[in-house]
Amino acid sequence: MNNEKLDVNTTIAILERIKDIIEANKDYLTQLDSAIGDADHGINMNRGFSKAIEKVRNNQYFDIGSIFKDVAMSLMSTVGGAAGPLYGTFFMRASMKLAGHKEADLTLLAQALREGLNGVIALGKAQPGDKTMVDALIPAIDALETAAKEGSSLKDGLAKALAMAEKGMKDTIPLVAKKGRASYLGERSAGHQDPGATSSYLILKAFYEALEN
Ligand SMILES: Nc1ncnc2c1ncn2[C@@H]1O[C@H](COP(=O)(O)OP(=O)(O)OP(=O)(O)O)[C@@H](O)[C@H]1O
Ligand SMILES: [Mg+2]
Repeated sequence: MNNEKLDVNTTIAILERIKDIIEANKDYLTQLDSAIGDADHGINMNRGFSKAIEKVRNNQYFDIGSIFKDVAMSLMSTVGGAAGPLYGTFFMRASMKLAGHKEADLTLLAQALREGLNGVIALGKAQPGDKTMVDALIPAIDALETAAKEGSSLKDGLAKALAMAEKGMKDTIPLVAKKGRASYLGERSAGHQDPGATSSYLILKAFYEALEN
């Protein structure tokens, strides 16, 4: 039986955790982006989630969709580059699924994150294997849906999703980038882990860790 739910307080705790993890990995993400991009991914993401948590801390929420929506707006207005609109869309599309819900079980969370991922794919047109954030997000959200169908708890579902995100992230290392700035490098982009797949993994890690506590 799954009695666990993602409520307003848990969602805020997740965001606090995302902010901390992104901040702690700011230099790491920027280092990854310096190998195949323009060395701004950590800086961009840290700016975005600092802004997002500031907004969320200063507001009162009665549904979890509104929290996701405020995160989306903050990311869109502060992150810039490729990742800003993509992560902004991810949280915005997820927020639409969560609108009016005081809490979400694993099934609803999986549906919301699937919507978010569909938004990222519609906007960025990345295919699996193009060496982008979707290479971490697709296997993770597939795993989340499978876990939901199997009746897993929220925490177990997120643990499975996290393991698949980690694998997807590492599997970007040999890939040749087909989207974004890294694609300008062609074959030379191979041998480096994708920064966006790494930030997606870290965001899912924050979801899992916030629920663990
Ligand atoms: N079309 C896309 N679809 C999905 N993800 C993408 C796409 N283009 C880039 N990305 C992801 O964005 C990450 C880079 O994010 P970053 O914040 O560094 O933006 P950027 O590439 O520097 O933006 P810009 O080139 O516009 O300055 C990549 O590692 C990749 O995962
Ligand atoms: Mg960059």
